[in-house]
Amino acid sequence: MPETPRRVTVPDLIAAKRRKAPITMVTAYDWPTGRLADEAGIDCVLVGDSVAMVVAGRPSTIPATLGQMIYHGEIVVRAVQRALVVVDLPFPLQHLGPRRAVAACARLLKKTGCQAVKLEGTAGQADVIAAIVSAGIPVMGHVGLRPQAVHQLGGYRVQRDAEPVLADARAAADAGAFAVVLECIPAALAAEVTAALAVPTIGIGAGPHCAGQVLVFHDLVGLSPGRVPRFVRGYADARGAVAAGLAAWRDDVRAGRFPGPDETLA
Ligand code: KIV
Repeated sequence: MPETPRRVTVPDLIAAKRRKAPITMVTAYDWPTGRLADEAGIDCVLVGDSVAMVVAGRPSTIPATLGQMIYHGEIVVRAVQRALVVVDLPFPLQHLGPRRAVAACARLLKKTGCQAVKLEGTAGQADVIAAIVSAGIPVMGHVGLRPQAVHQLGGYRVQRDAEPVLADARAAADAGAFAVVLECIPAALAAEVTAALAVPTIGIGAGPHCAGQVLVFHDLVGLSPGRVPRFVRGYADARGAVAAGLAAWRDDVRAGRFPGPDETLA
């Protein structure tokens, strides 16, 4: 019988930062992407509210609902055996007070089986993070470019104002967050935040000095249509490979080459 691998835990990630062992996190939204991420030995799988953009083609993450996060989270949790699975709290639940946020996070945990939640917020959400953590639910913070606040921030822009980013990250960590995502901030600022926090920072568009890195699965493997952000490096051309496969199958069907004897049942 193959042994089930030991699950990555919150203390493992905190210890990784102390050891200066870089943490990897990638998004997944369904069974195949969760499985692929886990088989690749990624430490943390994030069921991001980016599902609204990447999977549903919405213009922002704002339309993602708790029901959708539960639907995708439950699928990913079943696909992933080793990585720590984190599910995003969708807008605006972290802004409705600690009681509603705790209730929503508890639903995410109970219905999906995930090990942690992530929420975007400023220092203004520190009481909410503290309440969720005191309920025994591990929280990953998310500061810098907060996509749920895209309209207030004036677009998906680099957040250069150091003081609020540092204050928001410190507030999240002080409230008990076990890690903090730093999105789209200058590398020097990410280094300063990383040095200031005992818990790991996980960067996306935040340079090389974070304790870990996160990317959107479809950007990383070249599945996203159109332009990807400058901070992405494409490690595969999945879109090209899939397009070539589909075109070859179409041509074979049209030419009578598919199905052949091997694909035909007697
Ligand atoms: O929703 C998401 O995919 C995220 C990552 C970009 C960190 O929050």
